[in-house]
Amino acid sequence: MQLHVMKHPLVEHKLTVLRDENTPSNNFRQLVSELVTLEAYEATRNLTLEEHPIQTPVAPMTGHTLTKNPRPMVIPILRAGLGMLDGMMRLMPTAEVGFLGMKRDERTLDVITYAQRLPEDLTGRQCFILDPMLATGGTLVTAIHYLAERGARNITAIDIIAAPEGLERLKKEVDPSINFDVVVAGVDDRLNENGYIVPGLGDAGDRLYGVVD
Ligand code: URA
Repeated sequence: MQLHVMKHPLVEHKLTVLRDENTPSNNFRQLVSELVTLEAYEATRNLTLEEHPIQTPVAPMTGHTLTKNPRPMVIPILRAGLGMLDGMMRLMPTAEVGFLGMKRDERTLDVITYAQRLPEDLTGRQCFILDPMLATGGTLVTAIHYLAERGARNITAIDIIAAPEGLERLKKEVDPSINFDVVVAGVDDRLNENGYIVPGLGDAGDRLYGVVD
């Protein structure tokens, strides 16, 4: 597993405003989107290209465009990952989008998969999982197993904040034969007894969309 922690003044600034409990949902959504676009620049560094001959106003040349077959796959984890989709697709509009619906049992912290919309065969696909909070790592480990069962061998997770406990778990539990990268805007101190990241930003889904009972 390769961990990339963004080190950039714009990222630090946006992350601080995002964490502030006084930041309202509309600003929060905008900041998440902007942070993901900045992270996506790092996360897509190894996208594959194919040759693309063109004619400029001056001369013919062979340029390069993103591989079309197969196209990269972006997978937001519902519900909070959905808030990251726009920011990712802005940079990579030709990617395909699949969905995984996962939630935590708040008592046991176990992961429940309640929905999925993914191709059966992900062989050769570069997959990008979007989930803002890498807390216990349980959701991400389950999502990676899901993709690996369908043949994915090249997986990048894009998160806003990670906890050291979750990163440790990924190191131990993700099959080392999978080419796996994690890109985060920040790594925080720890998890609290409820599985929340400290200092974190609270419940990312609630802050994006408001509280649903
Ligand atoms: N999920 C969240 O939304 N926030 C956390 O701090 C941990 C998990």
